[in-house]
Amino acid sequence: MTPRILLSVPHMGGAEQSYVAEAFATNWLSTVGPNIDAFENEFAAHIGMKSVALSSGTAAMHLGLRLLGVGPGDEVFCPTLTFVATANPIAYLGAKPVFLDSDRATWNLDPELLSRALAQRAGRNQLPKAVIVVHLYGQPADMDPILAACARYNVPVLEDAAEALGSTYKGKPVGTHGRLAAFSFNGNKIITTTGGGMICANNPEWIRTARFWATQARDNALWYEHSRMGYNYRMSNVLAGIGRGQLQVLGERVRQRREIAFRYRDAFADIPGISFMPQSPHGIHTNWLSCFLIDELAFGRSRDSLIAALDAAGIESRPVWKPMHLQPLYRHEERIAGEVAEDLFNRGICLPSSSSLTPEDQGRVIEAVQIAAGVTRT
Ligand SMILES: Cc1ncc(COP(=O)(O)O)c(C=O)c1O
Repeated sequence: MTPRILLSVPHMGGAEQSYVAEAFATNWLSTVGPNIDAFENEFAAHIGMKSVALSSGTAAMHLGLRLLGVGPGDEVFCPTLTFVATANPIAYLGAKPVFLDSDRATWNLDPELLSRALAQRAGRNQLPKAVIVVHLYGQPADMDPILAACARYNVPVLEDAAEALGSTYKGKPVGTHGRLAAFSFNGNKIITTTGGGMICANNPEWIRTARFWATQARDNALWYEHSRMGYNYRMSNVLAGIGRGQLQVLGERVRQRREIAFRYRDAFADIPGISFMPQSPHGIHTNWLSCFLIDELAFGRSRDSLIAALDAAGIESRPVWKPMHLQPLYRHEERIAGEVAEDLFNRGICLPSSSSLTPEDQGRVIEAVQIAAGVTRT
């Protein structure tokens, strides 16, 4: 039986095992050790921001919001089209998300809608405590107008760059434009530590506090003394070893993911009713996942029926994220528009995008889409 082709799988570079072996050989098998320090330093050098290694991207979002002072009763603006881990940390802190729509050009937070929403809130003297920007599927959000709107009202920006390590906006890595950024090394991401995350900021006090909170907020004393609430959010020295190896191949992984996306785009160019996710003119979209929109009438079948056809051919594909304002968990929360996100969810599909996807396996995916569309190959 031919093996199933999955959406996005880990892809080791080669050096990871030697760093992990070193951790075992030296017995640094907990949440302190040389791999953690080195991974943070190497990541910081790559991104150009100070960095703290954590157990997940969700933890990074949680600490980031708390560093911005988000607390009970506050409102936080958040794009509705995202993974739930963007929004959940708002609720962890007892704050309320307000979900905003995407723009069609980037699928990310709509800068004009944001600007209007902030102006309206300022008029009511009810500004949000923070704005979260997500760089969805590796696509850089249009940061300049977003930052300009937020600066007008002095509202800080937290970048959720969980899906976008390797992406740039106007020549600078995403995550370096706002006050703080969160990255994820979950198993499906462009590089992985099996599970993990990074919080990045320029403010050294925030970095010190993030590290303190992530290690149970233990005060400086002989005994276990605690005056602040903390979490068990630190990355282990073993997993940091995997991260060091992965970081060495990040550039290659970006090139491979982009090549895969453009091969799909070219192969589908003549099929009616299937259109490629826009590529930002302002930066580099890693195409962490290759995404397309299906126009049911022109394509000849629905997005869901295409997913079923691919599944029958042994290929995993997924709908684009279901917007937060449609989730039972968050249906009662306030939202500002949402029709674009709903359309992207209803028609969007993510195709297998692993950087290790072979040309033969990608050929299988392409052929399955062509067959589903009723297009015979020449
Ligand atoms: C947009 C977004 N935010 C946050 C996260 C959370 O990252 P993690 O899975 O490392 O907790 C993810 C991915 O899982 C994500 O896709």
